[in-house]
Amino acid sequence: MSTTLQIAVVVGSLRRESFNRRLAEALIKLGPAEFSFKHIEIGDLPLYNQDHDATPSDQVKRLKSEISSSQGLLFVTPEYNRSMPGVLKNALDQASRPYGQSAWKGKPGGVIGMSGGPIGTALAQQHLRNVLAYLDVPTLGQPEAFIQHKEGFFEADGSVGAGSRKFLQGWMDAYVGWVKRHQPG
Ligand SMILES: Cc1cc2nc3c(=O)[nH]c(=O)nc-3n(C[C@H](O)[C@H](O)[C@H](O)COP(=O)(O)O)c2cc1C
Repeated sequence: MSTTLQIAVVVGSLRRESFNRRLAEALIKLGPAEFSFKHIEIGDLPLYNQDHDATPSDQVKRLKSEISSSQGLLFVTPEYNRSMPGVLKNALDQASRPYGQSAWKGKPGGVIGMSGGPIGTALAQQHLRNVLAYLDVPTLGQPEAFIQHKEGFFEADGSVGAGSRKFLQGWMDAYVGWVKRHQPG
């Protein structure tokens, strides 16, 4: 039996040159071989409308199926106006319904993010944690990672620069332990 654990990677920015997408890519490079990371598309989801709970779009069906078939969640998000971006909240809402059929329930999660500002997405992450608590997603508490984007953070090949590599490897190692600890059985 394969022991590979699939991690659904949800990036809260749709921007082509997104720092958070680059951060997600760099984190994936720090992950173990036994984890496979799957990017989850959230940019093409319709806006959530409860009228459509019984007739979800193909995009929403795809989202729910990709979350359901994953064993862990990795959220990498910017901060928009001191909260999470609307596209991310929309994805959380979409896969949480119909009531009682949430795809998120019980999937262990990690939250991390990068912004230009000095508090490095702290408030966005805290808002996201509130929602994840309600959705029954056990979320890694420590270490926290509030990352301010600075020149040289990423190497030319997309990996994390020497100044932050040890810290991010420590974060990834804790996340891996968290995901493994929360597998059923
Ligand atoms: C609508 C909007 C709101 C923003 N609000 C914040 C904020 O509250 N805190 C912050 O640190 N940066 C804020 N920023 C700046 C982002 O940190 C910056 O645009 C960052 O590059 C976004 O992440 P991305 O590169 O992954 O797209 C905001 C940017 C936008 C477009």
